[in-house]
Amino acid sequence: MATPTGTESSTSHDHHVQSQFGPRAAAYVESAVHAAGEDLRHIAQLAGDIRPAKALDLGCGGGHVAYALAAHAHEVVAVDLSSDMLAAVAGVARQRGLANLHVQQASVQALPFEDASFDFVASRFSAHHWQDVDAGLREAARVLKRASPAVFVDVIAAGRPLLDTHLQTIELLRDTSHVRNYSAAEWHEKLARAGFGVERCHMFRTRMEFASWIARMATPKPLVDAIRLLQKAAAPEVQQVFAIEPDGSFMLDMAVFAVRRC
Ligand SMILES: C[S@@+](CC[C@H](N)C(=O)[O-])C[C@H]1O[C@@H](n2cnc3c(N)ncnc32)[C@H](O)[C@@H]1O
Repeated sequence: MATPTGTESSTSHDHHVQSQFGPRAAAYVESAVHAAGEDLRHIAQLAGDIRPAKALDLGCGGGHVAYALAAHAHEVVAVDLSSDMLAAVAGVARQRGLANLHVQQASVQALPFEDASFDFVASRFSAHHWQDVDAGLREAARVLKRASPAVFVDVIAAGRPLLDTHLQTIELLRDTSHVRNYSAAEWHEKLARAGFGVERCHMFRTRMEFASWIARMATPKPLVDAIRLLQKAAAPEVQQVFAIEPDGSFMLDMAVFAVRRC
């Protein structure tokens, strides 16, 4: 595995992300929600059309985007803060014979790559953990060749404060390294500021099965109980929008932003 870079600039939040995700590497490799989905199929289809020379997966987690890209790209680099995640991804790549998949420990906010060294960038369900999402998006744009495509997928916050507060609160209780889910409007602004033109934005909903959502992050019981209390005490409108079920399972809004480096 390549050595960590940007260590001098790494922050206590970045360390917190590593300590939250490191022990959960196997759970993220095995996660059914992460291993499938229309967004993953969309990324694979785009990569199949383009057949990139060098593709980058930012915040690779259990590596599901990187595995999908490896089928179509000449070379794939999977970046994550967590060395445990990267060791798990490298292990799966070996098992699957994906010799074109390499891992690199780094923060998205300080990527150890030359300008314009990739022709495809993807990042899925990671940006809401980035301490400085604008810096991460700027880095993604910097390492991408001009006019090349990128895809960003993440949970989307409703623009309405009532719903936004509920979402951010349960996310933080479940995983204390959560920073923020952004609204679609915030994503559009951030992508434009970083130097991306949005070509398509596809919104969809995914059901989060409560027991596996909590188990994946090993959320401590008092925090699980707090989430359940909040869900039960939430206003009817909140319960309805998130379609909260008796066992705590609920629906999350997601978006796929298909963009191009300006
Ligand atoms: C939910 S997982 C990603 C899931 C994965 N992309 C997939 O599609 O299955 C979030 C990952 O983002 C990583 N991460 C969070 N902040 C990061 C940062 N600043 N730089 C690099 N990786 C980061 C975490 O270590 C974690 O592995």
